[in-house]
Amino acid sequence: MNAIDLSVNIGSLKLRNPILLASGTVGYGNEMSEFTDLNLIGGIVTKSLSLKPRKGNPPQRILETPAGMLNAIGLTNVGVEVFLKEKIPFLKKFDVPLICNIAASTIEEYVECTRILTEEPTIKAFEINVSCPNVKEGGLMFGNDLSAVAKITEQVRANTNKMLIIKLSPNVSYIAPFAKAAKENGADAVSAINTLVGTAFNIFNRKPKMYNVTGGLSGPAIKPIALAKVFEIS
Ligand SMILES: Cc1cc2nc3c(=O)[nH]c(=O)nc-3n(C[C@H](O)[C@H](O)[C@H](O)COP(=O)(O)O)c2cc1C
Repeated sequence: MNAIDLSVNIGSLKLRNPILLASGTVGYGNEMSEFTDLNLIGGIVTKSLSLKPRKGNPPQRILETPAGMLNAIGLTNVGVEVFLKEKIPFLKKFDVPLICNIAASTIEEYVECTRILTEEPTIKAFEINVSCPNVKEGGLMFGNDLSAVAKITEQVRANTNKMLIIKLSPNVSYIAPFAKAAKENGADAVSAINTLVGTAFNIFNRKPKMYNVTGGLSGPAIKPIALAKVFEIS
């Protein structure tokens, strides 16, 4: 029996199927590889990487809700240097396109991360996170600002020839202008969507359940919103 061709192209990136492991949900792929054959999936998007390692937020930083999950991890990651030294050798063993997600608190940091990582041939594309709801600097400060999205896209584009995806925030009234700003400044694609800002309180002690107070809602609950945003962008 012939296998069904599920391949898709996103810009110059050819994926054997459209299944991408979303940033932050599988770290750097190593733990996930014990449960699934990474060679069978379309691609891996790494946890957001920053120039220097980040500890992220203290717990409670993950919370189940009746219809989805709240997280306020706060971009915990090993930083680009350790990623290249310790995580890339493992990922090289698989025949799966690697998309590196980058987060930063300044435009210069986005550029510097891109400049360093673009030298690594295993990395096939960049996904620029301008939409993390769980950090004080960067994150939504950029994701809600059209000129910041335009500038970040333009400057990252000037520092890499690799496929460039801008990961947009759904925490805006209209998302299409952000996609347009990404396109007009050299992005090959946009990623929709990052999580939606949400919170939860303990009704008995009236305190927030999350250390960060707010977190990002993900899961099946937000899929209809994601589809509406994709429709708006298209
Ligand atoms: C625990 C957790 C950590 C995440 N970390 C990141 C991250 O570091 N960078 C990023 O761009 N998105 C991050 N995300 C957002 C996901 O990549 C995805 O955009 C979001 O979960 C919505 O998709 P889903 O509803 O299919 O999970 C994270 C999501 C979760 C649940």
